[in-house]
Amino acid sequence: MTKTHEYEVVIVGAGGAGLMAGLYASRGAKTAVLSKLYPTRSHTGAAQGGIGAALGNHEEDHPEWHAFDTVKGSDYLGDQDAIEFMCQEAIDVVYELEHMGLPFSRTQEGRIAQRRFGGHTNNITKKPVQRACYAADRTGHMILQTLYQQCIKNNVTFFDEFHVLDVLIENRAAAGVVALELATGELHVFRAKAVIFATGGHGRVWSVTSNAYAYTGDGVAITLRRGIPAEDMEFFQFHPTGIFKLGILITEGVRGEGGVLLNSEGERFMDRYAPTVKDLASRDVVSRAMYLEIKEGRGINGKSYLHLDVRPETVNKYAELDGRVRPDGSPYRVTAEEILSKLPDIIDFCRTYLGVDPVKQPMPVQPTAHYAMGGIPTNMYGEVVIDTNNTVLPGLYAAGECACVSVHGANRLGTNSLLDITVFGKHAGMRAAEYARGADFQPLPADPTAFTRQQLDKLLNGKGTERATDIANEMKAVMMEHVSVFRVEEGMSQALEKIRELKARFQNVGVSDKGKVFNTDLLNTWELGNLLDLAEVTTVAALARKESRGAHARDDYPKRDDANWMKHSLAWLEDGQVRLDYKPVVITKYQPKERVY
Ligand code: FUM
Repeated sequence: MTKTHEYEVVIVGAGGAGLMAGLYASRGAKTAVLSKLYPTRSHTGAAQGGIGAALGNHEEDHPEWHAFDTVKGSDYLGDQDAIEFMCQEAIDVVYELEHMGLPFSRTQEGRIAQRRFGGHTNNITKKPVQRACYAADRTGHMILQTLYQQCIKNNVTFFDEFHVLDVLIENRAAAGVVALELATGELHVFRAKAVIFATGGHGRVWSVTSNAYAYTGDGVAITLRRGIPAEDMEFFQFHPTGIFKLGILITEGVRGEGGVLLNSEGERFMDRYAPTVKDLASRDVVSRAMYLEIKEGRGINGKSYLHLDVRPETVNKYAELDGRVRPDGSPYRVTAEEILSKLPDIIDFCRTYLGVDPVKQPMPVQPTAHYAMGGIPTNMYGEVVIDTNNTVLPGLYAAGECACVSVHGANRLGTNSLLDITVFGKHAGMRAAEYARGADFQPLPADPTAFTRQQLDKLLNGKGTERATDIANEMKAVMMEHVSVFRVEEGMSQALEKIRELKARFQNVGVSDKGKVFNTDLLNTWELGNLLDLAEVTTVAALARKESRGAHARDDYPKRDDANWMKHSLAWLEDGQVRLDYKPVVITKYQPKERVY
């Protein structure tokens, strides 16, 4: 029998955004956090290099510089009011995390240590600035643990391993969610005045990805099925340095600490692509440069990878060539011990997965699908907006990677993801609690689990002539080939045709486990349905955008076209068809310019 629970605020997802929202919502409303994982296994734990905030602990820095860099990094598609808000809030949120007990790495004077990261600059000299506050290369892991402890301390109620499959919307307002309890297979209805989605991204659409298995775009897919659009889905970021073939993230912090990218000729090729900031250009610029090097035959051993070199002798050589100095004016030089203490996890990953020791050998890397700039459209308070006029859907919120505020525009800067989840998680939590205090529960529909049962029954009773793993592998391969770092009309059209064929085949998929207890076969197949929807929406939006901007680089339209395309896309899934519309970008004080790094 379906069990019904009642909470004023229900949060879906227990990564950094969900936990921050949970913490803040629980201060003003009866709150539950539902997660398909144990909270401390959420993908925030995989974020390595840092959280951006202009603390200025090593050198001069300002929130305004951070805001400008973010606007420029976004290729002018980010909404500038939201970006300014986030960069101002950054300082308070980092100190708040520190006061909660987050064990940041420290400067010699005991302040929070900061490192360089791509696209973050001193706006006067244009040189990289130390803005990323870090805890070795485990910053996301530490944020996750810290926030989880705070939530437990503050008696937030958790429903772990409850997989949310539907959102209930009644009278044009959120009414709750439907979740499947993994341990029993039973459906539960969570009635709520406010629902916050914090379900993360969908990098599992691509074959080489830094994203965890759980990153299947559940929140965006669920809301699309309920008539809510997805914003800017054509923009998906490829992080330059994933471990070759495996995709596992090697933090940009490696380059922040002085590591360099080298081609088969031993050349530091970023000198040619970004003469001022070199290896610390924004991710879209570095990933494109890497693709071009490989395409022109300068991959290592003729293969599709390059070297990321953080051996002390290499770091010291290029630091000397660059004239890099420490804040006290002494030459920047590192030792193997220093590298080991600042980057312990990535050294461990490389030793474990590759048998490569980064203090003695360069690492083989290639761009890896990393981050969704697009998602559920929201304003800067986390309220979901559902049309080109930014009309708010009462009671529905989203925060973190599944949301599109939009502070990342066409390309996110590294460290702004951990910032986004904490700043907007906090505000979504506060806003949802405030809304819940003044709102009534919506009546539930007569049969609240009907739509969910219909989806699950179809999979359980499917003909089984198709295997989910085959469909998933074909989707990942075609998206990797045609809808990744470089795109052209013909390739994307082929990808779209293939995705539609796969969606048709998905109708005949079957799950072999017909049981109820921990039926991951069923749930993974349901997740594949989400990925297919998002692959289609991404490709349709990418085909429509006839320009190059940020992570959307088209060989057939190589220039940014502000006259026609300075606008956000909105995509609806209606009767199996994708419909697109557009809304303006918010510009405050940064007029669009050509980006030079
Ligand atoms: O490179 C990294 O450490 C990733 C950070 C991010 O995506 O912000």
